[in-house]
Amino acid sequence: MAELAINGGSKARTREFFAWPDYDGRELEYVEEVIKSRVWFAGMRGADPGTKTEEFERKFAQYHDTAYGIACANGTVAIEVALRAAGVGVGDEVIVPALTFIATLSAVLQVNAIPIIVDTIYDTQCIDPDEIEKAVTDKTKAIIPVHYGGFGCDMDTITDIAQRHNLIVIEDAAHAHGAVYKGKKTGSLGDAATFSFQESKTMTAGEGGIVITNNDELAEKCIQYRSCGRHKGESWYVHYVMPVNYRLSEIQSAMLLAQLERLDDQLKTKNENAHYLAGKFKDIDGINPVPGDGNTNVNGLYLYLLQYDKEKFAGVSRDKFVEALNAEGVPSHIGYPWPLSKNPMFQRVKEGAKGCPFTCPYYGKKISIKDQNFPVTEKICSETVVIPHQILLSSRSDMDDIVAAITKIKENAGELL
Ligand SMILES: Cc1ncc(COP(=O)(O)O)c(C=O)c1O
Repeated sequence: MAELAINGGSKARTREFFAWPDYDGRELEYVEEVIKSRVWFAGMRGADPGTKTEEFERKFAQYHDTAYGIACANGTVAIEVALRAAGVGVGDEVIVPALTFIATLSAVLQVNAIPIIVDTIYDTQCIDPDEIEKAVTDKTKAIIPVHYGGFGCDMDTITDIAQRHNLIVIEDAAHAHGAVYKGKKTGSLGDAATFSFQESKTMTAGEGGIVITNNDELAEKCIQYRSCGRHKGESWYVHYVMPVNYRLSEIQSAMLLAQLERLDDQLKTKNENAHYLAGKFKDIDGINPVPGDGNTNVNGLYLYLLQYDKEKFAGVSRDKFVEALNAEGVPSHIGYPWPLSKNPMFQRVKEGAKGCPFTCPYYGKKISIKDQNFPVTEKICSETVVIPHQILLSSRSDMDDIVAAITKIKENAGELL
């Protein structure tokens, strides 16, 4: 008789885990306040004094030990806004990691710059500074490290490279709200940082994003690129730079104010549960939490990352294991399936494709992303099992159910062959 739920056996876990997105009376109260105020729009530059958006920008920036926050419509355009504000444009090279969501790269394409993809480090899943160093050319303008899953990247080495080559560093902190690396908040470690508030993220208003920075000039330029190219003190129809509307609404900002208030508590619970699970996984050969480099004091834990060794599970493939784990009632997924270069948008580029980045007339070099290989990232993508962050907001006995489900699969792995 089958034991595993995937084969018709009973589930290891029948109750739901922590429900996401999370809300309480505060979201309802703050949103009601906005609705009743009839001020739903944050003003012509995107955060007029007295608006919820202005309050949220200030509090979020302060929380991350930075001076300015520039709220945006989502995390992708936040990266684009930061790049434009930093003066990155046509034909400039921007170094990005092979392991990330497409937005880290697509924002570079949006400003007509050239994404230079480099490999990651196995133990942190973050961009490899040695690979950054090798990739720097006289065209390099910026580096976008991604604090992957919530671990901090090696920012000391990255900022050292940036200083030596006069490069801008924009941290993509979409996975790392509130994370602390070497005693400092991620998001405060480069020239600017960007976050996403899309629904799966650890703080959310359904959609949303923000740039944070300590640099006055960069902040002012971000405001202009975020809100129709408008200058301070000028009128509605006067536009100085690329005039796009990337503003956040007051309703979203009201929700984000409430989400920010519970971020610390949630990070604490998640980090404690991650620590507890790591202790339990020591007894399950073949399941190892990604260790990081030991310098992440508070993990942002957007993704709880596990390395799966199929040889210790009777040769059962990672994909089959994830299917079986979901069937047991533990939500999990494989994460990004491949390095960025393997995406169909690059693989399908035909000879003769025109325009940046493939035949950018301002670049003066040819680039073929589809032929690029990133062995460390390939290995990571073939072994990773992701448990979404909200699962770690559940109780301690819920964590035991995760361990029980994985143990059950291991003990009955033969059923999956
Ligand atoms: C690493 C990373 N950067 C940027 C983004 C883009 O954020 P958004 O979906 O808000 O545009 C995401 C979203 O998943 C992400 O994971």
